[in-house]
Amino acid sequence: MRKGKFITFEGCEGVGKSTQIRALKAYLEERGIDHIVTREPGGSAIAEKIRDIILSSENEGMDYACEALLYAAARAQHLKDMVIPALERGAIVICDRFVDSTFAYQGIARGLGEEFVDQLNRLSTKGIMPDITIFLDFPPQLSFKRKGGADREDRLESQDMEFHAKVYEGYKILARREPQRFVSIDASGSKNETREKVLAMLKSRGILE
Ligand code: TMP
Repeated sequence: MRKGKFITFEGCEGVGKSTQIRALKAYLEERGIDHIVTREPGGSAIAEKIRDIILSSENEGMDYACEALLYAAARAQHLKDMVIPALERGAIVICDRFVDSTFAYQGIARGLGEEFVDQLNRLSTKGIMPDITIFLDFPPQLSFKRKGGADREDRLESQDMEFHAKVYEGYKILARREPQRFVSIDASGSKNETREKVLAMLKSRGILE
């Protein structure tokens, strides 16, 4: 039985997801609300090993389908080990990336297509979807500038800008398609402004009191 709430964060590289996740964690901690913070790919011992394979700069030659299947494999394990037990005990689960990353990165930017990704997501999640997804909306062209460049050691961050622009387009498709679940938050302002917008939205949706 799912008693908790499942919140996922999405956005292009360098948009400030980690900062906003830390801020939400601090908010829950101050109020003594049971929660976990986790991430994909990874988040549990086996899934973190899969993450290392996916992100390693040694694996430049990885086939796009192989990559997509590894994200799905990591997700299935992470749901079993972390997400489902926390939701069952009634905790709030905050997850950095989930199925919408697979849609935007593998489905749209890598060009594997929606049908491929839909099937993969169905298999890996067994229908477990977030109660709400916070899309931190800030175009990659601007966020890399704000951050001071990409991390060259990270195989995926160092993709060219055209790739990141396609990822952003993929997210925009989701924002139009599922506005109830996949909520865009304008992340162009200061960290504090974005934090206030996130909290206000979660309260207005009844996720937080
Ligand atoms: P992170 O940098 O936010 O930790 O994410 C790791 C990378 O993995 C990031 O470049 C996005 C990518 N990713 C996908 O391409 N597909 C997915 O399904 C997930 C979860 C992440």
